[in-house]
Amino acid sequence: MPRTLGVCYYPEHWPEAQWATDAARMRDTGLTWVRIGEFAWSLMEPAPGTYDWDWLDRAVETLGNAVLKVVMGTPTATPPRWMLDKLPDMLAVDAQGRPRRFGSRRHYDFSHPGYREECRRIARAMGERYGRNPHVAAWQIDNEYDCHDTTLSYSDAARLGFRNWLAQKYQSPDALNRAWGNVFWSMQYDAFDQIDLPNLTVTEPNPAHVMDFRRYSSDQVVAFNRVQVDALRPLTDAPLIHNYMGRTLTFDHYRVGADLDIAAWDSYPIGFLSDRIEGTKKEKQTFLRQGHPDNQAFHHDLYRAVGKGRLWVMEQQPGPVNWAPYNPAPLPGMARLWAWEAFAHGAEAVCYFRWRQAPFAQEQLHAGLLRPDSQPAPALAEAAQVAEEIAQMPDLDQATGNVALIFDYESAWAWDTQPQGADFEMFRLAFAAYRALRRAGLSVDILPPDTGDLSPYKLVLAPGLMTLSDPLRAALATYHGIALVGPRSDLKTRDMAIPMPMGPHLPDTDVTVTLVESLPPSDRIRLQGGGAFRHWFEHLEGTAPVHLSTKDGRPAIMGGDHLRYLAGWPDDATFDGIIGGLCDAAGLPTLQMPDGLRVRDTATMRFLFNYGMTPVDWNGTTIPAAGVHWEARP
Ligand code: GAL
Repeated sequence: MPRTLGVCYYPEHWPEAQWATDAARMRDTGLTWVRIGEFAWSLMEPAPGTYDWDWLDRAVETLGNAVLKVVMGTPTATPPRWMLDKLPDMLAVDAQGRPRRFGSRRHYDFSHPGYREECRRIARAMGERYGRNPHVAAWQIDNEYDCHDTTLSYSDAARLGFRNWLAQKYQSPDALNRAWGNVFWSMQYDAFDQIDLPNLTVTEPNPAHVMDFRRYSSDQVVAFNRVQVDALRPLTDAPLIHNYMGRTLTFDHYRVGADLDIAAWDSYPIGFLSDRIEGTKKEKQTFLRQGHPDNQAFHHDLYRAVGKGRLWVMEQQPGPVNWAPYNPAPLPGMARLWAWEAFAHGAEAVCYFRWRQAPFAQEQLHAGLLRPDSQPAPALAEAAQVAEEIAQMPDLDQATGNVALIFDYESAWAWDTQPQGADFEMFRLAFAAYRALRRAGLSVDILPPDTGDLSPYKLVLAPGLMTLSDPLRAALATYHGIALVGPRSDLKTRDMAIPMPMGPHLPDTDVTVTLVESLPPSDRIRLQGGGAFRHWFEHLEGTAPVHLSTKDGRPAIMGGDHLRYLAGWPDDATFDGIIGGLCDAAGLPTLQMPDGLRVRDTATMRFLFNYGMTPVDWNGTTIPAAGVHWEARP
């Protein structure tokens, strides 16, 4: 698969006289793709039903004439102000009951049927206009679902939709009362229209109620997206894409992805390190201008699964962003490194955000490839370098990874709903496991929770899965590698209750979790032979062999040769030891990656990325700080 570069561009922000010069410069930089349109509804349809396509026609034409390919964005993340006059109740409502008003973006409620119709209309109108335009070679639907925490809304539309959703799911209030356990605290309902959204309760609402609301809300994102997919499909053969965000778990991305052709995500490594990744003070300092060395890779691997193998980075950080608590500039070389890392993980295209820094409005301090005065910003030369290198690089075919990590959105909602310990969070747990795999030099595939075939992998990790799906349970029953399930896996029913008999229900493996404990940051459960669990520990019972014990003799890992259960959350060094032992047992070679150096194998190539601030020697090659090295795969 050839790799390509692109950029995000807002022709409506610049005088038309500048477009052709911009386009020529993009082409000369070696860019292939230009994403446009995704926030321009107010210009496409200045008044209800009155379209103005002329400017957009000319923009597409100008870009196309420069041999650039357009990714056309549907503008549904920014409905124009007149939309509110038409649909006054279309705004989302926060958990405190306050409307989330006009004046920025994403001011809509996924549940609102009238707004969905408006989205269908504009998507269809755009499809009719540009669906067969030879320059429009891909589509982006909406922009970053859930950005600014917009999946969950407590509006009237959501309440009504939720009641209908519950009525369909349970058919009778009695069935719902039983499933939720509403006999507890006299919470029974006599009718579906008595049920409110789970906000503004006196103390915590029933977790089963919250879980159904989370499922309902996720379903609304899927349905909202599908409306535009259905509108566009008959009108274009170009691939349909959405640009997801990092560490966003509020909706089931696999289900949105099932309706689309490619999963893209927006990668802001430095912004992320600053405000979305836990880490020691030292890590935050060491990687301040590079981003966490595993964060980008994790999301590439996750979204490759969401995209059923097809991945893009739709927005790539080029310089300082404007939205994190602190916004340092990347080390020279990082805008190149991030792009190559994305390609090594399977991305077909990487588009920098944005072409030119805007001198006005909210994002005026967000860097682009050009400064506001059109002079080159530092990332422009790096983008040009990547473009030259791509041209020299043979096609990069993805290989199946050596190990698999199962990642599940519903489990994230479950543990969010009932964390039991302040530090228990699904992303954090999965990311801890992922980081350990990468420190061992392994190339990871992330798999959805209904995976039914584990046979390509010698090692599989399944941390934090609320309930094992039937296909996964069946796959585990016949698995010939080593699967490590847990902690906190298969311990709930789908109704968010403790199953009877108690879990986990691992095929042919007699292990039961009898009690769970969460631990404050000051506490550890020490393990025999060194190491410790943090945050979380489960008491195990059963006849399965014990592979690892706590210092005081309680089981820490139990199970057979192929299927084992992990009773706690290992600290980093302990995770390394556990994974090292499992890889040895599974016959999987590992590497000991120096700090900040990470490896990714494609079918034929080995890529090394140095996120560190100093050069690293690797088998006789010196990889500079913020540098990339590639060689034939051993
Ligand atoms: C993304 C968004 C872009 C822009 C960018 C700034 O979240 O999709 O429109 O706001 O962040 O970093």
